[in-house]
Amino acid sequence: MKALRGATVSFRQNPFEQAAETCLVHHEDALVIIEDGKIQTIGPYSEIIARLPTGVVPTEYPNALISAGFIDTHVHYPQVEMIGAYGSQLLEWLNNYTFVTEQKYANEAHAELAARFFLRELLRAGTTTAAVYCTVHPQSVNAFFEESTRFNTCMVAGKVLMDRNAPEALLDTAQRGYDESDALIARWHQKGRQHYCVTPRFAPTSTEAQLEAAGALLRKWDGLFMQTHLCENQNEIEWVLSLFPQRSSYLDVYAHAGLVGQRSVFGHAVHMTEQDFCTCHDTGAALAHCPTSNLFLGSGLFRLFDAIDSRRPVRVGLGTDVGAGTSLSQLQTLNESYKVAALAGTKLNATQSFYLATLGGAHALYLDHRLGRLEPGFDADICILDYKATPLLEFRSSYCESLEELLFVLMTLGDDRAVRATYVAGECVYDRDRQGEKFRYAP
Ligand code: GUN
Ligand code: ZN
Repeated sequence: MKALRGATVSFRQNPFEQAAETCLVHHEDALVIIEDGKIQTIGPYSEIIARLPTGVVPTEYPNALISAGFIDTHVHYPQVEMIGAYGSQLLEWLNNYTFVTEQKYANEAHAELAARFFLRELLRAGTTTAAVYCTVHPQSVNAFFEESTRFNTCMVAGKVLMDRNAPEALLDTAQRGYDESDALIARWHQKGRQHYCVTPRFAPTSTEAQLEAAGALLRKWDGLFMQTHLCENQNEIEWVLSLFPQRSSYLDVYAHAGLVGQRSVFGHAVHMTEQDFCTCHDTGAALAHCPTSNLFLGSGLFRLFDAIDSRRPVRVGLGTDVGAGTSLSQLQTLNESYKVAALAGTKLNATQSFYLATLGGAHALYLDHRLGRLEPGFDADICILDYKATPLLEFRSSYCESLEELLFVLMTLGDDRAVRATYVAGECVYDRDRQGEKFRYAP
């Protein structure tokens, strides 16, 4: 058993549907009691402290907000080494940089090194769960899940499927992709906190036979996830329509193969029709909003408030999409999502923003029964946000007059520096201020 003391922020409802006050749960001085990796009790310190067994000394976090860990619904771990690649839009960027880099993951030692670095960067940013693309190489998936198992992080990941329109060294076949995925599912899916995600890269790099094989995997195994890219860029969309002339839309290519449903996560969805949104609503599929990537590649502006329209709301999570995205920090991602919403003539407030990065992401991934909230029974995946982390944050936050204002300043100015510590299933796996090694595997 352990306990944390400090101010808390969490959600009980969706602030896109109801007034912020009814959704946000805030204690100025709370005690969070953790037992067996889960939150056992949370409430005002003065009311709860009597329930803490003598000998359990709370870890105190002054000048901070205790929050559920962030959830990144779309990220490519092999692309961390090529973040910030200059000068192209999506299709050229893939050919010139991404497909060159991903070939290195045939080498398992390289994949291990990258997985090690990536997971530490996620935890440093306060992110405790992510939907992660590996590469086409099964060893890239093994390297990732092995490292995630050491931290005991709840992760969703899978082998990329590609059987055309990429360099020979990155191609599988419909059958080989099926067999390799099947073996990885048997090895990793629902082992501890790991979840397997069937991952056809996007329609242009898979034949119809491969998309069908991906659908067959989803039917064969329970509880699998599916991730791919959708409607990111105009040239990409035109290419898809020319490759699949018999389909009525880009999304229909996936729907026809049985890839659109609960636990399906579509990255980007920048250029969606009303029909596309309706299909996602009806099937329970989710969208990963990736603002830093969409700005970096010049892909376009995601219409968040259209996506979540209350007449047919679509589940939306926040994605960093590194390496097209420019930061693994969900605070920085929110900073850009505010601007993307503003350019569409809408305003994303701080309560809505922090919901998106926590419970909203969990809801998009159908993990909101155990992740995304500080609530008894929920997994103790937690980040501690230090609003005095930098001189500017400290100076600016001293003028904040409300929690809403403080949250907004944190997402505007904050990044990994503002993460004081990260807990995974109740263990402090990252402590910014610890002397020596800041990361610790789960015991
Ligand atoms: N579409 C297909 N593959 C990718 C990728 O790796 N990154 C992005 N942003 N879009 C893609
Ligand atoms: Zn992506």
